[in-house]
Amino acid sequence: MAYLLALDQGTSSSRSIIFNRQGQIVAAAQQEFRQIFPQPGWVEHDPAEIWLSQFATARQALRNAGLQAQDIAAIGITNQRETTLLWDKQTGQVLSNAIVWQDRRTASICEALRADGHAETIREKTGLILDPYFSASKLQWLLHHLPGSMQRAERGELAFGTVDTWLAWQLSEGKLHVTDSSNASRTMLFNIHTGQWDTALLELFGIPAAILPEVHPSSHHFGDTHLFGSPIPIAGIAGDQQAALFGQACFTPGMAKNTYGTGCFMLMHTGQQPVTSHNGLITTAACQTGDQAQYALEGSVFIGGAVVQWLRDGLKAIQHSPDVEALAASVPDSGGVVFVPAFTGLGAPYWVPDAKAAIVGLSRGSTVAHIARAALESIAFQTTAVLQAMIKDAVCPITELRVDGGAAANNLLLQFQANLLGIPVVRPQVTETTALGAACLAGLGAGIFSHIDECASLWQTERQFLPTMSRDQAQEFMQHWETAVGRVR
Ligand code: G3P
Repeated sequence: MAYLLALDQGTSSSRSIIFNRQGQIVAAAQQEFRQIFPQPGWVEHDPAEIWLSQFATARQALRNAGLQAQDIAAIGITNQRETTLLWDKQTGQVLSNAIVWQDRRTASICEALRADGHAETIREKTGLILDPYFSASKLQWLLHHLPGSMQRAERGELAFGTVDTWLAWQLSEGKLHVTDSSNASRTMLFNIHTGQWDTALLELFGIPAAILPEVHPSSHHFGDTHLFGSPIPIAGIAGDQQAALFGQACFTPGMAKNTYGTGCFMLMHTGQQPVTSHNGLITTAACQTGDQAQYALEGSVFIGGAVVQWLRDGLKAIQHSPDVEALAASVPDSGGVVFVPAFTGLGAPYWVPDAKAAIVGLSRGSTVAHIARAALESIAFQTTAVLQAMIKDAVCPITELRVDGGAAANNLLLQFQANLLGIPVVRPQVTETTALGAACLAGLGAGIFSHIDECASLWQTERQFLPTMSRDQAQEFMQHWETAVGRVR
């Protein structure tokens, strides 16, 4: 009974990973699912595909490990955040596809709220910047566009949830309508200071309170699932970026991590104090394991690894994502090409919802290798812009950046990243830190671990990338980047 099952429901794929109590991966399974783009700027997922792919990988991981349900002490759920779903509480039928966090269809709703002067109050209560990224405007859009849904919501017949809530509902066969504070803090309806849904914000966005899930700490016995044979407790839930911060053992103020996933998300723990950014970052709830709320500063970059996906699927420049490293390394530099991957607007620290992507600086000598290199560099440029903002906001110095996520396997990227940042970039032995974080939360919730120090001891360095570029040269690179960003604003 000493294994922990992490369900990691990401934007591009569903993964399930089984850890032993030493934090080592015992087995894993992964399935990609459809990305639906009904119109420019819209991004949707089919909720059934989210659930079925997640459930299938969980069963596959158990088979791969040769384990049964009774060997699993607890499940931890971690998930793409903000993505918004609405379903019928009686039948479990969804009312529409999920509106994905990257979807920009509600830019005009946010613009109108900004024009009416609501941005500051929203910021004060939720820590968030008024942007279509977060759930509230997406939920408002659904309730206004799905016939009869507002009346049904007011009668308490519907359930709203982010992906964690949807998975917990499915796992419990409709018994649990729950979330945790880290996911709730991304909805723009949750007051991060009181730890409650905010009545005034619900009124502002026109959301009936009856559709909201119960909020608990991230480490908590939410309920059990009986879908795998014998019952397994669901003992951890956290948004994927907060889970990664936890899995990277960033438990004290000033400790920071960057996850190179579909997007790039840098979070710095700020302890029990929410810190307000003056430089384009957001304040968010970090994983909560007891009664005391924890906070982080976050820089959310919308396109990170997804730029490589676009090279593969859109430009057809490579066949498989890992091929990008060799292609980019086949040229000594980007030859002056700068790629601003604003495919879904620009997030932190710029916040330009309708920016469009651009490749600038092309010459007759430019090749697809230069574009691939510029694409990889764009991930590091965006991360550096966020870190620079974080340093300005931080209450204490950031001395290293812990990294994880798919693209953290790319040595070329991490060396360039360290060069630009001017601080060590540290890759841990387990780069599945999102899943590890969820497993640790579940382990704490189920009593497998008794203190977060036990989770911290699971974290070990695999490789450190030290800066080798002069600060002048790094600054020059960043100037080129900022000039290119200026052209897409
Ligand atoms: O806020 C969105 C984020 O949670 C998505 O993460 O890993 O699916 O790109 P990822």
